Amino acid sequence: MTILDIIENKKNRKELSQEEINFFVQNYTSGIIPDYQISSLLMAIVLNGMTLKEATFLTQSMMHTGKIIDLSEIKGIKVDKHSTGGVGDKVSLVLGPIVASIGAVFAKMSGRGLGHTGGTIDKLESIPGFGCYVNEMQFKKLLKKSNIAIIGQTDDLVPADKKLYALRDVTGTVNSMPLIASSIMSKKLATGSDAILLDVKCGSGAFMKNEKDATELAKWMISIGKKLKKDVRAEITNMDQPLGRMIGNKNEILEAMESLKGNGEPRFMELIYSSSSEILMQAKIVKNKKEAIKLIDDAIKSQKAYKKFIEMINNQGGDSKIICQPQWWNPKYKLIIKANKEGYLRLTNSVVLGTVAMKLGAGRQTKEDIIDNEAGIELVKVSNEYVKKNDPIMILYSSKEIDLSLSKEVWKSIEISKNLKNDPIILNNLK
Ligand code: URA
Repeated sequence: MTILDIIENKKNRKELSQEEINFFVQNYTSGIIPDYQISSLLMAIVLNGMTLKEATFLTQSMMHTGKIIDLSEIKGIKVDKHSTGGVGDKVSLVLGPIVASIGAVFAKMSGRGLGHTGGTIDKLESIPGFGCYVNEMQFKKLLKKSNIAIIGQTDDLVPADKKLYALRDVTGTVNSMPLIASSIMSKKLATGSDAILLDVKCGSGAFMKNEKDATELAKWMISIGKKLKKDVRAEITNMDQPLGRMIGNKNEILEAMESLKGNGEPRFMELIYSSSSEILMQAKIVKNKKEAIKLIDDAIKSQKAYKKFIEMINNQGGDSKIICQPQWWNPKYKLIIKANKEGYLRLTNSVVLGTVAMKLGAGRQTKEDIIDNEAGIELVKVSNEYVKKNDPIMILYSSKEIDLSLSKEVWKSIEISKNLKNDPIILNNLK
């Protein structure tokens, strides 16, 4: 078998065998096959597609190029959640402690943010002392002790995907459902969970711009999960608007804590309740949504979930006392955006707000950039809240002086109108 035979086969729309897929994945990862031949194969895949069988083989083959975590020694169903990336997305920081406090084992490996989307690891690392990089043994120890650990993806997790994704990024071959699905699923499945909930976002701040594409991607990932005997479910959610009231790092930690104390922004909490219920069903702790909601209400009201968050921070070396002090988040500069007329506010474009937050210092333009943990945006008003002329609607924060052009930029995502608009956050549930 040669790589040229494999390229020919894909060019001629033949289904690739498991051996052919293993051959190109392994030999590309180890540096034997050059970039230009794999670029050609990737383009043939983009143009001619893949069957579910091929995408499943690709997922398995990529998974096995690196370390696969074995969580079987931990009792119970291990659950994980993955978001395809959003603005203000602190769901795992709230959902994780909720489901862990109810008895599910929440084993999460998370990534860093790039561009307009933030990363859970960056948010957690804004807490002094918090460690995201632990080995497999420590990861299991944390899960056994507290039912929860959120750690960073290690370098030995699916090296084939790192190399292939970097090549796809520069060869116009990112946009293929089977390639995206196997890239995401290989990383999720390598981390050892039994059940995975996918939050596939669609809209202006999301990788998938419309519901049809988001649904198609979710179906690919669920089908790959089924073939590999994992319980994979998906929620299709709206990302035209940011999640909650905070975009940034320290400020999102504080918002997560407030949400766990029962003071979350209603639209954000709707997603938290929905995703947490689904995960509790996947963990077989409850039979239906009604039972789940009762337990979630209780976990929040009793502060069980909030205490679990503090326990997780302490377990991973974070200073949980300092984050409870009002001066912990203390940006030097702030700029208030005021309403220019009266009416119902509507945030229409989360990519604009994510990009402004990044420019304020809350995110990275390139992988090497250093994050300013004080920087970010507070949405004083969110969609469908009523504002009077000159009411503050948004506050920009940073450790450095704020470029005034950013205060113009945010208006690309703001509308004030006479009418309320129904904007559901959860568009569909799939399994
Ligand atoms: N995210 C991933 O992890 N992989 C893709 O291919 C696209 C988005």
